[in-house]
Amino acid sequence: MTNTPTVLVPLAHQEADPSAAFLVERIQSLKKERNAIILAHNYQIGEVQDVADYIGDSLELARFAARTDADTIVFCGVHFMAETAKILNPGRHVVVPDLKAGCPMSDMITPEEVDRLREKHPGAVVVTYVNSPASVKAKSDICCTSANAVRIVQSIPEGTPVIFIPDQFLGDYVQRATGRSLILFEGFCPTHMRIMAADIDQARHQYPEALVIAHPECQPDVAIKSDVVASTSRMASAVRESAARTVVVGTELGMIHRLRKENPEKEFIPACSTCDCSNMKVNSLEKILWALEDLSPEILLPEEIIRDARTALDRMLENS
Ligand code: 13P
Ligand code: SF4
Repeated sequence: MTNTPTVLVPLAHQEADPSAAFLVERIQSLKKERNAIILAHNYQIGEVQDVADYIGDSLELARFAARTDADTIVFCGVHFMAETAKILNPGRHVVVPDLKAGCPMSDMITPEEVDRLREKHPGAVVVTYVNSPASVKAKSDICCTSANAVRIVQSIPEGTPVIFIPDQFLGDYVQRATGRSLILFEGFCPTHMRIMAADIDQARHQYPEALVIAHPECQPDVAIKSDVVASTSRMASAVRESAARTVVVGTELGMIHRLRKENPEKEFIPACSTCDCSNMKVNSLEKILWALEDLSPEILLPEEIIRDARTALDRMLENS
């Protein structure tokens, strides 16, 4: 895939919606009444991040969900993240603002595909990126996120074949980081796929002093050309620790809200101005309020899926 990079410019600031204050007030009081907490992924729209009790990457949110004793978790992210929260803490009500917030990469893999891969590679360990349905996690040996994928693969004895699903680009990144050869599946993130190596070249040309950060879901030639390749929260810490005044952001555009908030003195340039995940953006303050009012839509999973997927997720948490 090729594209012609245009001049890269900072992302425009979004004006705060005047009705937001009323919604935030209602959300905060209902949250207390319901003994609920709001978790939000780093890609959520600004006002959703701002109303959340906790913002993080997939691993941090999973850990937080696993240990909370709130009665209800309002999960603002995409479907697989809310499922992960339910699997790790099945006694809680896990509600989402909008059930349509899916993840196209997660939809690329099925339990039947896992069976086929196991048949084709007997004795292989199945490492499953959390961006996958609960039914696929239930058929896996161990899960990983972008924050711990390298460590999880390193925890498997050398010489054991490893099937890595579903993201071929995260898998490729892990291969480069570990020097191990993995059996990859052809899944990918359509959002990160939009960032091209030519965009990074253009950014380097236009902003030679900038720090270039990218997510490991990016294509290999983008990751190789970047200074930092990391999970969303680790990108945030790399930016906080860097002296660079300009940062080129090779990931989903929602990330820039948190980066700006934590580093008001820095300038953030999206590597690709169309790198937005429409699924992440369907959540809104109104829908959070409705989810709290109705305790719906709720994430519900069959018991045996929770049991089997939990084994793979617990192994991940023990190893990271
Ligand atoms: P992180 O776990 O790095 O937050 O990534 C989740 C994701 O969906 C990236 O597209
Ligand atoms: Fe899925 Fe990509 Fe959206 Fe992340 S950014 S939720 S991987 S589609």
